[in-house]
Amino acid sequence: MVDAVIAIDIGFGFTKATDGKDFLVFKSVYGEAVDLQFRESLLDTSSHDEHIQIEIDETAYFVGELAERQSSSRSFTLDQNQFISSSSKILALATLSKLVHQPKQSIKLVVGLPIGHYRQYKDELAKMLKTTHEFTAIGAQGERIEHAITVTDVRVLPQPIGTVMDRLLSITGIAKSQRFANDKIGIIDVGFRTTDYTISDKGRYSERGSLTTKNGISKAFAKIGTKLKEASNIDVEIYRLFEAVDSGSIKIRGKSYDLNPITEKAFKQLATAIATDANTVWADDWDIDAIMITGGGGAVLAPYIEKQLEGVVIPVKQDLDYRLHNVRGYFKFGLYTWRKQETKKTTEATA
Ligand SMILES: Nc1ncnc2c1ncn2[C@@H]1O[C@H](COP(=O)(O)OP(=O)(O)OP(=O)(O)O)[C@@H](O)[C@H]1O
Ligand SMILES: [Mg+2]
Repeated sequence: MVDAVIAIDIGFGFTKATDGKDFLVFKSVYGEAVDLQFRESLLDTSSHDEHIQIEIDETAYFVGELAERQSSSRSFTLDQNQFISSSSKILALATLSKLVHQPKQSIKLVVGLPIGHYRQYKDELAKMLKTTHEFTAIGAQGERIEHAITVTDVRVLPQPIGTVMDRLLSITGIAKSQRFANDKIGIIDVGFRTTDYTISDKGRYSERGSLTTKNGISKAFAKIGTKLKEASNIDVEIYRLFEAVDSGSIKIRGKSYDLNPITEKAFKQLATAIATDANTVWADDWDIDAIMITGGGGAVLAPYIEKQLEGVVIPVKQDLDYRLHNVRGYFKFGLYTWRKQETKKTTEATA
């Protein structure tokens, strides 16, 4: 049997994953699991949140929203130093606990790394993942499932390239557009904490023209949060601002605050910084055919960034949450890669 392909995009804000059928999105946060003594009452109040809990080598973790709410010890977002050693492993296994339905299954993985981590960590990450992972998944009612998932192959991609793969390949992993295979395309991936720039030259990653900055969407949200604090005296977590900003207002202690003017201003400033960096980092790449804007932050900033870019912008398809384009691209790339290998093997066998 051919192994199932699973794609995972571990971002500073959210971990995104797909098995080609379903998508999974959770906050890239984990923490020590505590005993949920009040399971019943917790379930009533937090029934919307997905319960993600795993146990690796006898240490139990809450992951995502659950960690943010319940972990008594600090919950960590992705930390540079422990990125490969623990964060990415915990977030990857948490993903598998949700997407792999048979406890002893074999799978193949495609994982994206931030541009800034790619060269240094890609081999280490692949090595860490390519093994049999024994861990326990714990359900909302405390039920335990013992997993022994074997990862038989791993591909690591620079994160923003996923968006190009998504356009280049069909959902069955077949190249569908000559254009994307022949052109030189710049990608701007606006995430929660960072913005990544990179170039896909004839479908290949080019390290030249790649850059990571701290101009993620959280920078604009921090500004909005500061203004809101001045007006209301309440600290609203950056994570919580997405919906408020989207709807244009927020209610704090019964009072409604109009967020539109400050949002407009903060987004424009951030977009200008992002576009300026693009024009600088690609100053010598005048032969770029087109530019794509992706990532969750790209969804809100694209209209502002576009106007200030030197070049033609290809709109990202609006058929999916912007945060998910990279990971859908990884999945297609996995099918493309491993299908090619399978076909080669079969032809060799029958030759
Ligand atoms: N439905 C949504 N819910 C929450 N945030 C969303 C949603 N749609 C778009 N966003 C935006 O997406 C941003 C996160 O984008 P994304 O998931 O691409 O970041 P990331 O990859 O985790 O971060 P980084 O690239 O810095 O590692 C949020 O800050 C928010 O502005
Ligand atoms: Mg990202």
